[in-house]
Amino acid sequence: MNADKRCFTLGSFSSDVVFYDSESPLNIPNASLVVCDVNTEHIVEACGGAAEAPRIVLAPGEAEKSLPVLESILSTAVKGGLSRGDTILGVGGGVITDLVGFAASVYMRGCRLVLAPTSLLAMVDAAFGGKTGVNFAGYKNMVGTFYPAAEVHVAPSVLSSLPEVEFRSGLGETIKNALLGDEGLVELLERERDAIEARNPEILGEVIRRGLLVKCRIVEQDLTETGIRAHLNLGHTFAHALESVAGFGVWTHGEAVAWGTVKAAKLGELLGVTPASYRKRVEQLFAGYGFRLQAEAPHERLIEAMWHDKKLKDGRLYFVLQSGVGQTQLVPVEPETLREVLQD
Ligand code: GLY
Repeated sequence: MNADKRCFTLGSFSSDVVFYDSESPLNIPNASLVVCDVNTEHIVEACGGAAEAPRIVLAPGEAEKSLPVLESILSTAVKGGLSRGDTILGVGGGVITDLVGFAASVYMRGCRLVLAPTSLLAMVDAAFGGKTGVNFAGYKNMVGTFYPAAEVHVAPSVLSSLPEVEFRSGLGETIKNALLGDEGLVELLERERDAIEARNPEILGEVIRRGLLVKCRIVEQDLTETGIRAHLNLGHTFAHALESVAGFGVWTHGEAVAWGTVKAAKLGELLGVTPASYRKRVEQLFAGYGFRLQAEAPHERLIEAMWHDKKLKDGRLYFVLQSGVGQTQLVPVEPETLREVLQD
């Protein structure tokens, strides 16, 4: 196996990211408990020594991200006699990484956590950076912790069985990460669209690695999102509103982020933050990958949903806006301005 390990310090945690080369299968020598879902169980079975560990196999989907499922994982850990030094391994997409991260963070006040993301979205976003949680009282991620994994194993080879719709969702978030801090990656995404869409192993591996590194560099500076980590929410105020108004699942998260990032560029242009040339570049990049840039959702309902967004501070709604690749700021925005942007 060829892999390259990078170590990051996140607050008081040390988090290693193990980047595998494009052909190498996952290789995780051991774990005390493995949590996966029915779609990722075959990846666990081929992942080395950890395949022999006791295993919880969940149903796929967001409904599993709940307190009852969390409790069932903790009960299994107690019954299995896991101690604080033992490892819980999560193998799956964002639902698994958030849920298993939460379980590991509260089991005996924190046991060892290893994650192996199996979707593009989880590789470039959810698995790294310590955000864990479950949905509660009808709200997404309402209850959770910051608990970075001791190790995150990123093996692009596991993506070969990822459904196209999920792959595209991950691409939306990957492009957003590129815009936040890697001009070379933006150029690669512009230049190598055909190869990336065809999942060319070498090029996709580089895209994943660089897309994740943008996030690593941001989270290293601000684990608990008191400042710069909020930049990772580029496009997300629009996206969360669209996902909730259209009905969860109608737009994938990455598609909504693509639409939202283009809207944020338009908002920035209107406010004099974003040059027209950069707005066009962002728009062309997402359009080139076939992302929908028009949404049929009632504007007032979108605005109302945005007002329920987490980024409301002192009664004002802040948006992540950009003046160029890696040039990002938080700007307060009035509802009238949003109406104008949504009409466009
Ligand atoms: N997904 C955004 C973050 O990790 O902060």
